[in-house]
Amino acid sequence: MIPWSAGTVSERPEAIDEHVSLVPIGIAGRPFGCPGTGRVMTFTRVCGIDDVGPLGKNSFYLMDVGIEVLILRDRQGVMRAFEGVCPHEDYPLVEGHFDGSTITCAAHGWIIDGITGKGVSPASCRIAAYPLKVEGGDIFVDFDNQLEN
Ligand code: FES
Repeated sequence: MIPWSAGTVSERPEAIDEHVSLVPIGIAGRPFGCPGTGRVMTFTRVCGIDDVGPLGKNSFYLMDVGIEVLILRDRQGVMRAFEGVCPHEDYPLVEGHFDGSTITCAAHGWIIDGITGKGVSPASCRIAAYPLKVEGGDIFVDFDNQLEN
């Protein structure tokens, strides 16, 4: 492969496809592209993994993004991030019960799937689910994108 260096366009090797977009590698707190979608993902540190115990939940209000985020850790230790307030009357979901798969709101008992964020009872409700990654003992969440649910 011929190394490409700065120069005129005519000096570039022909092997470079003009239509290939180069996607920078993601670094915590910095944007990186999502291949195939073109979306930019920006991860924000929310907390340390020790802030969410086994089969646990915790929520944090992030001033910068104006979002209360609920972090759940299921029985297998998988962490997930959701919007932290109930879709019924905005009660904080961290006050509810999490059994490892569903969240039951403490206010009036609405039940939400803690894996997907979809409503169980009623089925018509949902909470936003965000991409989450664990890196170096910290939890990072991308609030600019939501997972499909
Ligand atoms: S506020 Fe959650 S069920 Fe009513």
